[in-house]
Amino acid sequence: MRPLVARIDSAALGHNLMVAKRLAGRARLLAVIKANAYGHGLLRAAQALRAADGFAVLTLDEAIQLRAQGYSHPIVLLEGFFHADEIPEIARRRLQPVIHRADQVDALARARVECKIDCFLKLDSGMHRLGLQPKAMLDALARLKTLPHIGHITLMSHFARADEGGEYLLPQLDLFRRATAGLSQPISLANSAALMRHPESLGDWVRPGIMLYGASPFASETGEALGLLPAMRLESEIIAIQPVRKGEGVGYGHLFTAPRDMQVGIVACGYADGYPRHAQTGAPVLVEGRLTRTLGRVSMDMLHVDLSDLGHAHVGSPVTLWGDGCPVEAVATAAGTISYELLTAITARVRIEET
Ligand SMILES: Cc1ncc(COP(=O)(O)O)c(C=O)c1O
Repeated sequence: MRPLVARIDSAALGHNLMVAKRLAGRARLLAVIKANAYGHGLLRAAQALRAADGFAVLTLDEAIQLRAQGYSHPIVLLEGFFHADEIPEIARRRLQPVIHRADQVDALARARVECKIDCFLKLDSGMHRLGLQPKAMLDALARLKTLPHIGHITLMSHFARADEGGEYLLPQLDLFRRATAGLSQPISLANSAALMRHPESLGDWVRPGIMLYGASPFASETGEALGLLPAMRLESEIIAIQPVRKGEGVGYGHLFTAPRDMQVGIVACGYADGYPRHAQTGAPVLVEGRLTRTLGRVSMDMLHVDLSDLGHAHVGSPVTLWGDGCPVEAVATAAGTISYELLTAITARVRIEET
C-alpha cells in the first residue's frame, strides 16, 4: 500500500472545539464542516465535534449525510439553496438556509412545505460576496415574517478582514449594527479570527471553521501558538534515496542545483495528492522527526527532500508533510497560500485514517 496517509486526530478536534466554546462564552457555536470538514472527512469531523450546538455546511447533500447519521443539530446551509426545488427537502430535513438574495424570498413564498423553515438572513456589510444591502434586508425580513411556513430568523453577515486589525473589522460591525438596530432577531457574525480577536462581534451564534482543525486564521501566528492542536498529520515515507553531485540539478526543470555532494530523499507525495506544486525549495518537512526542507519542483506523485543532515535516513523513513512539529501554516507560507487551501485540497486518493 502507498504509504501516504492523512491521520486525523479526533481528540485534537475535540480540544479545539473546547477552546472555541470557551471563547464563545454565552454564544452558541456552529461548527463549520463544509469542504469535507476542511479535508478532515465530514462524518468523522461531525462525530468529533458533536458537542457543537450546530453545524454549517455548503450543500444539501452534506446536510442529508449528517441527518442520515442521526445528527439532530441545527444545520445551516451557508449558501442557502441554489434552486427552488431544494426547498421541500430543506423543510423536510429541518435545515436552515442562508437567504442572501431577494428572489430566494420569492421562492420561499411560493414553496408548499409541510414543516416550518428556520433561516439565516444575510446582510452584505462590506465583504461584497453574498448578502442583501441594508434596505433590501429589511424588506426581506418584513416579508419573511409574514410567511406562515417561516420559523425563526437569524440575522448574519461575514467579515472580509477579521484576521487583520480591528480597524478593518469595525466598519463592517458598525454597518451591521446600524442596519439591524431595533431588531430582536438573534445574530451571527464571527468566524475563527473574529472569535479569537473580536469579542465585541460574537453575537448569538459564532461560526468557527479553521481553528477547529487546529490551524490559525492569522498570517503571523500558527495554531499551535494559539493553543490549538493540529488535527491532521499528512504522513508518508522515503521511497528512494539519490546521491546528487555538486552542480547537478534535481527534479523537473532542475530548479534546485546541489551546492555540494548530497543525499536527496524521494517522498511518496505529490501535487496529485494535494501537496502544493507552488512550494519549491525550502518548504518545511519532517524526516524521522527532524526538520528539513523540500528541494526543487514538486512532481505529480513525489517530491524531493534534503537529507544532508540526516545520514541515518533510509528507504522507509517516516516523513511528515504537515502536522504536529511541521505546521501546515508554514508549508502554506512556503507555497504562497494559506492553510485552508492545503487542508481542503487533499485529494481522494489520499487515505484518511484516524489516529
Ligand atoms: C460564511 C462563513 N462563515 C464562517 C466561515 C468559517 O471561517 P473560518 O474557517 O475562517 O473560521 C466561513 C468560511 O469560509 C464562511 O464562509
